[in-house]
Amino acid sequence: MDFSDYTVLIVDDEKNTRDGLRLSLEDEFDVYVAANIAEAEAILKSDTIHVMLTDLRLGGENGMDLISQTLAKPKAPTCILMTAYGSVDVAVEAMKKGAYDYVSKPLNIDELEIVIKRAIRSRSVEEENVALKAQVTERYGVENIIGHSAVMQPVFDTIRQVAPSKATVLIEGESGTGKELVGRAIHHLSGRPKSKLVTVHCAALSEQLLESELFGHEKGAFTGATERRIGRFEEANGGTLFLDEIGEIDLNTQVKLLRAIGERTIERLGSNKPQKVDVRVVAATNKDLSEMVKEGTFRDDLFFRLNVVSIQMPPLRDRKEDIVLLVDSFLKEFGEENNKSDMELTQDAMQLLLDYDWPGNVRELRTAIEHGVVMSNTPKIGVRHLPVFLRDDSHSGFRPGSAKSTSPGIPPVVSDEDLNIAAMEQKLIRLALERTNDNRTEAAQLLGISRRTMQRKLKEMGLVEG
Ligand SMILES: Nc1ncnc2c1ncn2[C@@H]1O[C@H](COP(=O)(O)OP(=O)(O)OP(=O)(O)O)[C@@H](O)[C@H]1O
Ligand SMILES: [Mg+2]
Repeated sequence: MDFSDYTVLIVDDEKNTRDGLRLSLEDEFDVYVAANIAEAEAILKSDTIHVMLTDLRLGGENGMDLISQTLAKPKAPTCILMTAYGSVDVAVEAMKKGAYDYVSKPLNIDELEIVIKRAIRSRSVEEENVALKAQVTERYGVENIIGHSAVMQPVFDTIRQVAPSKATVLIEGESGTGKELVGRAIHHLSGRPKSKLVTVHCAALSEQLLESELFGHEKGAFTGATERRIGRFEEANGGTLFLDEIGEIDLNTQVKLLRAIGERTIERLGSNKPQKVDVRVVAATNKDLSEMVKEGTFRDDLFFRLNVVSIQMPPLRDRKEDIVLLVDSFLKEFGEENNKSDMELTQDAMQLLLDYDWPGNVRELRTAIEHGVVMSNTPKIGVRHLPVFLRDDSHSGFRPGSAKSTSPGIPPVVSDEDLNIAAMEQKLIRLALERTNDNRTEAAQLLGISRRTMQRKLKEMGLVEG
C-alpha cells in the first residue's frame, strides 16, 4: 500500500516536536502541522486530512477537546492522541470519545509510523465496506432481499416508497418467494427503528385462539382463559403487525380484523372496553384473495382495506437471472456456517439450477445450496452434491432405472448421497463434533474410533492443520 497520498495532520504546541515529526514522517505521508486548535481547524476545513495526531496539552488548550470537536463533524479524520501523561485513564477517555489509538511521549518514530499506517488501513477498509454495501443494496435490492432482475424492481420501488408511510400493505406470492422478508424490510425501513415487529401466523390457530392471539383476552373470557392476556395488536402498538397467511382466517375474525384496521380500535375478548392502537399492518398470502372474494370466503371490505398497497412477489422461475446472485449469497451464508470458505458451483451444477423450475421458489434454492455445501468435501460443489430431486425429471426423488426402482412408487429413505461411505463418514464426524462441543477425544469415543484415527480424518477433511 502506498501511503504517500494520505494526509497526516500533527498538532503540537512545541515547535521542536512539530518539526521533528514532520521530518521523520514526510517521507511516508503527506504531512501538515498546526500549533493550536485554531490552526488545526483551519487546515481541517481547507484540506482533506486522513489522520490527525494531536498532543494532549496544547498550551492552555486541550487536545481531547480538539478530538471531540473534530469527530463530531462529517468526514472526520481518524484521530490519535499523543500524551506525555500516558496514563491509562487518559487513553481510555480518548478512545471513548472515538479516538482510534494513543501514543506516549517520548515518541518512538517506528511505532508511531505503524500506528498511523494501521489507522489508514482500517480507515480504507471501513470506507470500502460502506461504499460496497451502498452499491450492493442500490444495485441488488433493499435490505437482505436479493434480486437485480427487472421483475424485482417494482418490488423494491414499492418497498422504498411505502415503508415510511403507515399504509397497509398486502404481499402476495407463492410459497418461498420472500414475502416475510419483504414484510421485515418494510418494517426496518419504516424509520421507526425502536418500534416492534410482531408476526402472527394466521393458519396455525383455530378461530378462538387466533382471536385471542390478535386481540388478547380478559381472565375468564372463555374456558381455559385463566389469565388476562395482551393481544398482538397491543404488543405491536407503535410498530408493525405482520399477518402471515391472511387468506386462512375465518369470516368472523375477518369482521373483527376489519374494525381493528379501519378504526384502529380493538377489544380484548371478554371485555367491552374499546382500546386505541396505532399499528401498521402488513399482510401476506399465497392465495388469490380476489378469487376468494368472488367465492365469498374472504370479505371484500377487508380485502380493500388490506390492499391499499399491494406487492406481487414474482416466482423464481420468472426471474432466473437472479439465481446466480442468490446462489452466491447462500454459498457465503452456509460456507460460514459450516466453516467452509470460497465454496463455488461447477458449471454443470449451476446449469442444473438454472434449468430447474423451482416450485418452492427461493426457499427451495436456499435449501439446495445448503445441501450442496454440506455434502461437498472440496470447495467445488458438483452435480452429485446437489439434492437428488434436481437431477430428476419427475421431481419426485425417484428415478426409474436406478437401483431404487425395485420398489416402484416408494420414495427412498436413504438418498444417493448417503450411500457414499466417505460422505456419510464425514457427516457422522461433524455430527459427533457438534454433539461434543468440538471435544475431539469425546467425539472419537462416540464414533468408536481411536483419537489418532480421528485426528487423521480431521486432517483429511481439512478441519485441522496438518
Ligand atoms: N429475494 C431474496 N433474497 C434472499 N433471500 C430470499 C429472497 N427471497 C426469499 N429468500 C429466502 O428464502 C426463504 C423463504 O422466504 P420467506 O419465508 O420470506 O418466503 P414466504 O414467501 O414468506 O414463504 P411462505 O409463503 O412459505 O411463508 C427465507 O430463508 C428467505 O430468507
Ligand atoms: Mg412466509
